[in-house]
Order: sequence, then C-alpha cells, then structure tokens
Amino acid sequence: MNSIRDFIHSKTKQREQDGMLRSLKKTNPTLNDLSSNDYLGLKGSYEFSNFLKRKIQEFDDPISGSGGSRLLTGNYEYIEQLEEKIAKHFTSEAAIIFPSGYQANMGLLSCIFPRNFPVIFDEYCHASLKEGIRMSFARKISFRHNDMNHLEKILKKLNTPACIVTETVFSMDGDSPCLKTMNNLAQKYDSIIVADEAHACGIFGMNGKGLSVEFDRVFARTITFGKAYGVMGAAILCPKHVKEFLVNFSRPFIYSTAPSPLFCISIEAALDYTMLHREPLQALLENIKIIKSLFIKEFPQENCTNSAIQKIIIPGNEKVKKVALALENDGFAVLPVLYPTVPSNQERLRIVVHSFNTEEIFKNFFCSLKKLL
Ligand SMILES: Cc1ncc(COP(=O)(O)O)c(C=O)c1O
Repeated sequence: MNSIRDFIHSKTKQREQDGMLRSLKKTNPTLNDLSSNDYLGLKGSYEFSNFLKRKIQEFDDPISGSGGSRLLTGNYEYIEQLEEKIAKHFTSEAAIIFPSGYQANMGLLSCIFPRNFPVIFDEYCHASLKEGIRMSFARKISFRHNDMNHLEKILKKLNTPACIVTETVFSMDGDSPCLKTMNNLAQKYDSIIVADEAHACGIFGMNGKGLSVEFDRVFARTITFGKAYGVMGAAILCPKHVKEFLVNFSRPFIYSTAPSPLFCISIEAALDYTMLHREPLQALLENIKIIKSLFIKEFPQENCTNSAIQKIIIPGNEKVKKVALALENDGFAVLPVLYPTVPSNQERLRIVVHSFNTEEIFKNFFCSLKKLL
C-alpha cells in the first residue's frame, strides 16, 4: 500500500514542480469564450435547449436509462433508428453510437487490426486515437504531422497494406492533412484510412458531413456530438460488416451500459436543429474568415488555419499560463495548452472561434495579446 501511496504522491509532486499540475476549474460565463468547443453556440443556446425540451416532451417512452449493455438488455428501437438516421445523414452504410469520442476511437482501433498489421498514425493524433492503437496488437508507426512525403516513405518501405490514422481537423493545431494526397497514397499502397472528424463534423462538408466523406479509401470515420453539435456522444461511421464486427469485438462497446434514450434524443435534437437553423454555421464561417484576416495582419509569422481553431505558440508552460491568465483578467477565456498535451516548446494558446463571437471581440483580444507578448 505504501508503494502506491508513495507513487501517487511523488508523481503529483513532480508534476507540480514541473509547472504541469492540472486542476479542475469552473468556467466563468462572464468571459468572452475563445476556448470552448461549442463552435455553433448550441451549448449556451436557450433556443436549442427549448428545442431539446420539446423533443423530450414529445417522446412517448421513458427516457432515463437503457438498463444494460447493447448486447444484453440495453438495446432498443429508438437507438437503432437513430443510428440509421446518423448513417444516412453522414452518407455511411452504417453507424454505431458510443458514449464519447474517446470511447469510439478506443473501441474501434483497439480491435480492428490483425496482429502486427501496420498502423501509421500522425504524430499529433488525439490521445484517444493513440490509446486505441496502443491497446491493439498492431505494428505502430508514427509519421510527421501532416507530412505526406514522410507518410509515403513509410508506406513504400513497408511494401504491404497498412492503415493510416489521422484527424481531419487537428484538435490542438486546427490544421488539416491534404486528404486528397493521403487518399491517393492509400490507393497506391493498397491501404485504408481511419479519419477522426471530431472538429470538422457539423461544420465542414455538405450538411456538416465532415471532410473525408468523399474519399474512397476512408474505411471508418469518427464523429462526435460534444463539439459543434453542443451535446455529447459519438458515432463510428463504417460499412455494415465493420459495425457487425464492432458489436462482436469492441470491448468498450460490449462491456458498457448502452446510452439512454435521453442521450439519444439530445443527439437527434442537435442534428435536427442544425439542419433547421443554418444561421449559427454561417456566422461561424464568417467569423473564421474575420479572425484569419486579423491573424494575418497581427501575427504574420504564425500560420493561420481554415478551421475554427487557431494557435499562437508561446514556448514554456509557465509563460503560456501567465499570458492566458493575463488575458482572463482582460475578459477573455482562452486556453493555454501545455506540455505534455503538446510537444515541449510547442506550448500554445488555442484560440477557438465561435458563431457568437464578434469582430470587436477579436480585435480587442488581439490588442490585449500583443501587449503581453
Ligand atoms: C480529435 C478528437 N477526437 C476525439 C475526441 C474525444 O471526443 P469526446 O470528447 O467526445 O470524448 C476529442 C476530444 O477532444 C478530439 O479532439
């Protein structure tokens, strides 16, 4: 027992000494939100909340729980209908719902690869993708972030089919791989792609289908409902036989209580609401254009992205935390992203654009930021 106590104590202490200790903080609603993943403002929208409440009222069956895992007592008509609706909406043969994107990625990647099958993943992939790959028996190889030349070098050297794993919009950088080149490489080397659309779905592609839907080498896609869709949950979009395989072999799917009808109603409400109300998306796309032009003017040395996520590199955990705190005092909620979430010396402010931000907020933000750097 002492060894566990000592381990926990010394690891936490070390974190603190390294300036990397994390703690839970409540969000301050009075700040200008330049940090949440609530891209379309649905999380904070009374209109969407009321829409959701009406959907709940209209639902005839009890909504609280599922009563068991999907394979035992927790499967029901509505969750299957919703999966069909999600599949249709995102142009997929099938969809399988998971409680979160983390579980979806882990549940997919941990089980689909034969032993020693080569999996080549972008070095900046989200922890949930890496965790799934880590848990698998695959041969794990990383390629340099968005570097298609490096990816090809690895594929060529392997000279055997492989699976390429990427995000379509990277969560901490906001940039995207050249999916066309990646798809061509997958074709050339008889390989497949797994694409995480967490930060693209609901925003990019027709009706928010994401960026990878059109590419034939994409074998499975992850979409999440906790970001642009303002609720929570996720789904894997894949062929029917892959869904059948996951139902049989994906341990996070099999050994976990099925999502409740309440959870499913919130996902359906988010899908319906975003199809009925296109204004938040228009406003978000407009705001991305605005912040890009301000970015280019104010920080020409930084690469701006085409997504809702921008970054300013401020090396050092302490420095970036200090800047974020000063910005908070000026009225802006902007997150410092620290090592080890990002590589050392790549610590950054992650600036997130929303539908509800204004040009004036961006201008004031850049003005405050410039004074601090
Ligand atoms: C790229 C990416 N994939 C997956 C996830 C996990 O999704 P969820 O928050 O629904 O667990 C995240 C969350 O931040 C993410 O950024």
